[in-house]
Amino acid sequence: MIENWPENIIPERVPRHVAIIMDGNGRWARQQGKERIFGHFQGVESVRESVQASIELGIEYLTLYAFSTENWNRPQDEVNALMELLVDTILAEVPSLNERRIRIRFIGDRHLLPQKCIQTIEEAERLTMPNQQLQLILALSYSGRWEIAKAVRRITEAGMSAQEITEELISNFLETSDIPDPELLIRTSGEQRISNFLLWQIAYAELFFTDQLWPDFNKELFFEAIRNYQGRERRFGKTSEQIQ
Ligand code: IPE
Ligand code: IPE
Ligand code: MG
Repeated sequence: MIENWPENIIPERVPRHVAIIMDGNGRWARQQGKERIFGHFQGVESVRESVQASIELGIEYLTLYAFSTENWNRPQDEVNALMELLVDTILAEVPSLNERRIRIRFIGDRHLLPQKCIQTIEEAERLTMPNQQLQLILALSYSGRWEIAKAVRRITEAGMSAQEITEELISNFLETSDIPDPELLIRTSGEQRISNFLLWQIAYAELFFTDQLWPDFNKELFFEAIRNYQGRERRFGKTSEQIQ
């Protein structure tokens, strides 16, 4: 790993968990005069690049926002094409995930997904479960508010009393209960919003926005985001002097 180490990245300060809002596929396709779905297809290559970059840096968790609760409101054709692309990509990639010891997991409201999709993701989770190089977490039919509402329902069902409700308890009831919060959140395509992604978990994440559209995102741009992150001063409410 060290011999190909990217320039100007400090190994000791690589984040453990990076989250990405992969945005801009539709615009990318339109710029080429093509259908939106063409951009989603091309976006798979950027996912590969980001996974590869994560492995090269020894990142432990990579969470990708692939389909939001709100995305169900898109035209049915696009939704169907996205679901199909997802199933085909996962089926094709599992052997390579296993070779590179990548564990894939899904967060989100999986009951809303087509049956074929549920089967595929659950099989992929099962087949890659023992892998420990990188956890690749795909947010599918996911939204932060859905996740928090679900946690509250489960806390109530567990019969917890008001006194027992702590931040730690809430974290433990989220989909990400066993995953550290992301230190870095990247969003492509120039939009500077969160779009209901990981609301609880990004409380202190550093945000990195780039104008590049997702299909143009690649390993070098991923490294660029890490370098930018490493130039930040994370204060967590303290003063600069306390951090020095
Ligand atoms: C992100 O690209 C992928 C998904 C939300 C599934 P978009 O499809 O949102 O692309 P734009 O934002 O319309 O360009
Ligand atoms: C956010 O992108 C969701 C995903 C990347 C999966 P959108 O394109 O759906 O977000 P908005 O609608 O522009 O906020
Ligand atoms: Mg978009």
